[in-house]
This record gives sequence, C-alpha cells and structure tokens, in this order.
Amino acid sequence: MYIDLKENGYEAVIEKGCFEKADTLLNLKRKVLIVTDDGVPVKYSKTLANKCDNATVVTIPQGEKSKSFESLQMLCSIMLSKGFDRHDCVVAVGGGVCGDLAGFCASVYMRGIDFYNIPTTLLSQIDSSVGGKTAVNLDSVKNIVGTFYQPKKVLIDPYLLETLDKRQMSNGYAEAIKMGLTSDEKLFNMFYENRIDIIEVITRCLDVKRKIVEQDEKESNLRKVLNFGHTVGHGIEAISNGAFYHGECVGMGMRYVCSDDVRNKLDKALTNVNLPLKYDFDKEEIIKTIMHDKKASKGSIDMVFVNKAGSFEIKKMTKEEIRDILN
Ligand SMILES: NC(=O)c1ccc[n+]([C@@H]2O[C@H](COP(=O)([O-])OP(=O)(O)OC[C@H]3O[C@@H](n4cnc5c(N)ncnc54)[C@H](O)[C@@H]3O)[C@@H](O)[C@H]2O)c1
Repeated sequence: MYIDLKENGYEAVIEKGCFEKADTLLNLKRKVLIVTDDGVPVKYSKTLANKCDNATVVTIPQGEKSKSFESLQMLCSIMLSKGFDRHDCVVAVGGGVCGDLAGFCASVYMRGIDFYNIPTTLLSQIDSSVGGKTAVNLDSVKNIVGTFYQPKKVLIDPYLLETLDKRQMSNGYAEAIKMGLTSDEKLFNMFYENRIDIIEVITRCLDVKRKIVEQDEKESNLRKVLNFGHTVGHGIEAISNGAFYHGECVGMGMRYVCSDDVRNKLDKALTNVNLPLKYDFDKEEIIKTIMHDKKASKGSIDMVFVNKAGSFEIKKMTKEEIRDILN
C-alpha cells in the first residue's frame, strides 16, 4: 500500500513472510541501528541483523518508560560512537514504543536519517507504524516532545504476531474496531460477526489511516476521527492505575459516544475479541482528567460521535454535556 505524501511518500508492505525478505525490500547495505525491546522475541532482531552488512542492535527495556530523552540520548550516542552518518539508517523492530522512539531518533540525528519501521504488535501494524508521528514522553506527559517524520518503508508481517500474547492482540483489535466504526462498516462487521481475517483487518485499518494522513499529514482536523473513544478512554486510563491497556480503555470509551443501536453492536464486537465493556469509575474524577486533557480548550473538548457504523460527527462538548453522556 502506497502512502502518498508527495516527496515524503512511502510503501507499507503488508504480506505474510515479508520480514524474511527484508534485505530485498530495504536498503541494508550501510550502517543499520536496530532498535528493539526486551519483550520482543530476540529472534526478530537477530534475523534482521544477519541480513545487514553492519548492524548494531540496541535492546531497550520494554514499556512506556523507554520513550524518554534518556533512551534517545543513548541511541544517538551509540550512533555517534559507531560513526553513523547521514547515509545510514535506523530500523525499529517492535511495537509502538520502539517505533515512536526510533523514529524520533532518526528524525533528529544529523537532522534526519532514513528510518524503516518493522512493527511487531497488532497496534503498531494497524496504526502507529504509518502516519509519521514520533515522540518521547516527558515528566509523565505522554508524547509531548516529538516530530512528524515519515519512514522510508514499513514492513508489516502478520507472522510476527504469532508470538504476541492474546491480551496484546485484543488491545490492537480495539483500535481496529474504532477505525471500522467511524470509517469502514465492513471492517467493523468483521468483528461484529466474528470472522476476522488478519490481512484484511490490517489492510482496511491502514487504508483508513492512509486516507486521513494523506489529507491531513500534520494533524489539524481530519485526524481527530482517530481519537474516537479516546476522550473517555484516556480518562479511564488515567484513573485506573495501569489496570487496563490503552486499547481496552478506548474500547470502553467508545461506548459513551455512540447511539444505542451502535452500542449494542459494539458490545458484541468487543466481547468477540475478549475486550472489557465496563469499569466502575468515579464520574467526577474522569471529568476532571478529561478537562485537563491537552485537547481541551476554553472549557470544551471536541468529541467524535458515531450514530451509524462507518460514519461519524464531531461535537464540541462542555463539562456538563460530558457529565450527561457518562450518566
Ligand atoms: N505514532 C503513532 O501514531 C502512535 C499511534 C498509537 C500509539 N502510539 C504509541 O504506541 C505505543 C504503544 O504501542 P504498542 O501497543 O505496540 O505497545 P509496546 O510497544 O509497548 O508493545 C507491547 C508489548 O508487546 C511486546 N511485544 C512487541 N512485539 C511482540 C511480539 N511480536 N511478540 C511478543 N511480544 C511482543 C513488547 O515488548 C511490549 O511488552 C504507545 O507509546 C503509544 O503512544 C503511537
């Protein structure tokens, strides 16, 4: 699938087994910094390193904490000490944490060197590996420092998901359900009717994302649709002390911003992929976190609503209106 961003355009190869062909699909005949984490099976970075002439593998600790300035500095220092120059490249082999960090690092080292992404979680295969958002966290604020920097190519191989645990798969499915509900009814129905074809899920999700980023590369309005379910979802994530994954929170968050008919179908879709429906939260606490969200301005926040699967509308919501929907 080609992501057409004019001079920043690139191919996202979606194919079972494409990882094994990485040396024919990517230019690895140069210094290559492979960024992976210690939860990603070692065999993936090893396989890739064996396909390179001159690879350096850096394994960061798994988890959100690794999206930090310290990790960024460490990666840049390693590249500097190994003599990486403008013609060399960085490859992420991991989920969104590795992708966001490695992409950021590639975007700032020598003012930008080539970046390839090989996403290994479902979430990163259907969402974060495409679109060019890179970031690290600062002072417990997520993704607050980053760049828009497109990869040169993305290799999406569903075989790499064979080692991913079920809960992480469901976490990714939540985002796929989100994209289906707002933008592709056929995609949503795959979950509602419980007939999931992984290649079709990835292709349809990336097609939704492609259309958005092609029209709205730097996130002004259109990209807001990707936030469907995220406002309440982020609230739940913030107050539940790590009990839920992000996708699980988004799944629950979507239930507050759709029609009754859509909610009934959504509940079935979420249940089909083992996602939780409810969390017994304190509404006032959620409202407080929502109104502190960086997307809230002048006492209101734009929220995406779905009245019919495959379509959406954006409404400005005040604190009182949010209280109503939570009730
Ligand atoms: N750039 C974007 O547009 C964008 C979009 C959405 C999310 N994100 C970011 O993505 C991150 C979340 O990404 P994620 O959900 O992929 O989480 P993650 O990168 O933390 O990966 C989840 C876990 O799965 C493990 N793992 C990865 N691949 C595996 C495999 N094949 N087999 C077994 N285990 C494997 C990892 O070690 C990790 O423990 C967040 O930091 C979020 O901010 C970015």
